[in-house]
Amino acid sequence: MNRVEGKVAIVTGSTSGLGRAEAVMLAREGAKVAVTGRNDERGAEVVEEIRAFGGVAEYWRVDVSKEEECIKLIKEVVEKFGKLDILVNNAGITGPDVPTDKVEEADWDNMFNINVKSVLFMTKHAIPEFRKNGKGSIVNTSSVSGLIGDRELTPYHATKACVKMMTQKDAIEYAPENIRVNCVCPGTVMTPLVKGLLADDPHYLDNDIKRYPCGYFGEPDDVAYGVLFLASDEGRFVTGHALVIDGGYTAQ
Ligand SMILES: NC(=O)c1ccc[n+]([C@@H]2O[C@H](COP(=O)([O-])OP(=O)(O)OC[C@H]3O[C@@H](n4cnc5c(N)ncnc54)[C@H](O)[C@@H]3O)[C@@H](O)[C@H]2O)c1
Repeated sequence: MNRVEGKVAIVTGSTSGLGRAEAVMLAREGAKVAVTGRNDERGAEVVEEIRAFGGVAEYWRVDVSKEEECIKLIKEVVEKFGKLDILVNNAGITGPDVPTDKVEEADWDNMFNINVKSVLFMTKHAIPEFRKNGKGSIVNTSSVSGLIGDRELTPYHATKACVKMMTQKDAIEYAPENIRVNCVCPGTVMTPLVKGLLADDPHYLDNDIKRYPCGYFGEPDDVAYGVLFLASDEGRFVTGHALVIDGGYTAQ
């Protein structure tokens, strides 16, 4: 309990899946949480879930691929909660499951706008707020797809590798200012994002599970616990780290 007591956190894309679990866990551990996303109904649901156990949360509708919306979000969160301590860059999409020779430029651009530029914009505008506190913690969301190759999801792999490198680069840049930057690299976790892959290939998960040494997929809380550790002061000596949460998938 109270592992992030008194802190203020923004979790992007927290109306569903991993982001939702991360927002709820940070709130349960004492943070005031800005729940953000593009679905107002689900945003209200997450806030209600947090308030039901006495947590503090507010919902903001934001498209994180737009810089002006990221600026507005951070400004309003600081006005509402007084400061910013933790930024969880979670929002992301998988995009089209095609090989490189079939990738359309518009899809590539859209993937980079949502999965990578969002990390740039949110980080860029969170840093001045962290400087005011003399510290801060950013947790980005890469993926096992950012670590190893595969015969699937070309632009997704490229964006997630980019997020991992931005994590390492920014960790070095901001370490002297007591601002830590880490990322999580989850394996398959059953969320709406993964269920969406079944539309293209109904056997996606039957094939995927064979590659998991542990024999099961992750739950959103498995990733949320990793985010909580990296976000909290327990991780004070950890920066530039890619925390792999994948049931052994990339250990093979
Ligand atoms: N589920 C997995 O197996 C898995 C594995 C590795 C990495 N990830 C990553 O974890 C993150 C969360 O994925 P998830 O599985 O929870 O998916 P999800 O689809 O359940 O949630 C994604 C969230 O991002 C939000 N989002 C998407 N585009 C946005 C935009 N432009 N502006 C604001 N919000 C936006 C969505 O509204 C949603 O709330 C993603 O970055 C994903 O790539 C997921």
